[in-house]
Amino acid sequence: GNHSNSFIHEKKIVNVAHRGASGYAPEHTIPAYQMGEQMKGDYIEIDLQMTKDGRLVAMHDEKVDRTTNGTGLVKDLTLAEIKKLDAGTWFNEKYPQLAKEVYEGLKVPTLEEVFKKFGKKANYYIETKSPDVYPGMEEELLQVLEEYKMVDSKGRTKNVLIQSFSKESLMKVHDLNPKLPLVQLFSYKNQATISDEELESIKEYAVGVGPNFSKVDGQYVKMVRNHDLQFHPYTVNERADMKKALEWGATGLFTNYPDVFNEVLNEY
Ligand code: G3P
Ligand code: CA
Repeated sequence: GNHSNSFIHEKKIVNVAHRGASGYAPEHTIPAYQMGEQMKGDYIEIDLQMTKDGRLVAMHDEKVDRTTNGTGLVKDLTLAEIKKLDAGTWFNEKYPQLAKEVYEGLKVPTLEEVFKKFGKKANYYIETKSPDVYPGMEEELLQVLEEYKMVDSKGRTKNVLIQSFSKESLMKVHDLNPKLPLVQLFSYKNQATISDEELESIKEYAVGVGPNFSKVDGQYVKMVRNHDLQFHPYTVNERADMKKALEWGATGLFTNYPDVFNEVLNEY
């Protein structure tokens, strides 16, 4: 392939800190990402939404309601408005046993702030969320990647993977920069199967697939690996499931508990 991501080359199983170490700290906040690094997660997972004034912020939902003290759609709020919100107190209220005073008043980070904080040595697994809601999101993402030197002059990267449920969004990224390694996400409602034809077409633009773990089986993984695509299921939080994923041939996984996954990996 034309990707240069070191983990994929080295065949190391990748431990992706899903929304940061979001089992322990409020998702998509700097402390959650820091904890992901401390727990030796290989990648910081970042979901992207875009503000009214065109800035990329780390947030899972299209609305700010669940993970902040605000209400409304990200697309209707400016970055300045989003910066007024508290992105940590909800977590303390929902998980009193995990609550920490430092989570109070945390801000929603921009993608740029995350890059500033963690730099080029960290690895980022970045998802374009709701790309249909945010025209220009892919162009903005590529511009930020360039500005923070996450890609070199030839467009190559050592530390970024781009993921999306939207094939269209991935194709846009691919057209803008064919060197960026991409992962096609899937959300299956029923037990999943995938065909050689589908996998061949994915292989034309992506380096891997990321389905929901609960709907796949060993046969699915075999198909994916036969096409030499990476297999990164989400979101795998239970030890037994982590083991199962490894036995099936997963090349990495998304987890809210990167520390637990490292324990499982060390047993192997
Ligand atoms: O990106 C992999 C996984 O995170 C997809 O599900 O809803 O947690 O973004 P979601
Ligand atoms: Ca995600």
